[in-house]
Amino acid sequence: MAKNIVLIGFMGTGKTTIGNRLADKLKRTFVDMDREIETLTGMSIPDIFKTYGEIRFRSEEALMAGKLGSKSDLVISTGGGTVLLAENVSALKENGVLVCLDAQPADIYARVSRKKGSRPLLKKDISITDIEEFLKQREPFYACADIRVSTSNKNMAEVADEIMQNLRDKGWLD
Ligand code: S3P
Repeated sequence: MAKNIVLIGFMGTGKTTIGNRLADKLKRTFVDMDREIETLTGMSIPDIFKTYGEIRFRSEEALMAGKLGSKSDLVISTGGGTVLLAENVSALKENGVLVCLDAQPADIYARVSRKKGSRPLLKKDISITDIEEFLKQREPFYACADIRVSTSNKNMAEVADEIMQNLRDKGWLD
């Protein structure tokens, strides 16, 4: 039974896209935590935030992290704020390797601008400077990663290959 590969990182760094690709290449099941929470609650993430607030979302997220942490052989993509809670980090590290995806603020800006409205924590007129500020606040939390890979100026296949190479070098992947 292999350790889960858990993708963490800021919104718009490509966690879902890369997670899908990695799962495909490694023939593993892919789990996107936000989609699982939506399925379980029957509500979209923006609706959970709007109706019950961020606290409720974070508690659903913590339940999900606890549940997935005890599984194996998965590729998991987390939400950008999952690692804000130390308990989530411990749960996901229990049987997982944490891979942080990084990206340049301008690339994050371009990616999140394409999906306006789907991320309740980002205001509609967000700027690159706002993203830089937000990244600075989040950086101490992303530092819990076992591996960090930048997704800027690379295609999906290159990022997936780089992650797999890193995991192999460290003995976490055959
Ligand atoms: C969040 C990131 C989102 C989602 C929620 C909160 C965050 O996921 O979990 O809107 O706190 O950074 P993505 O990173 O997939 O956008």
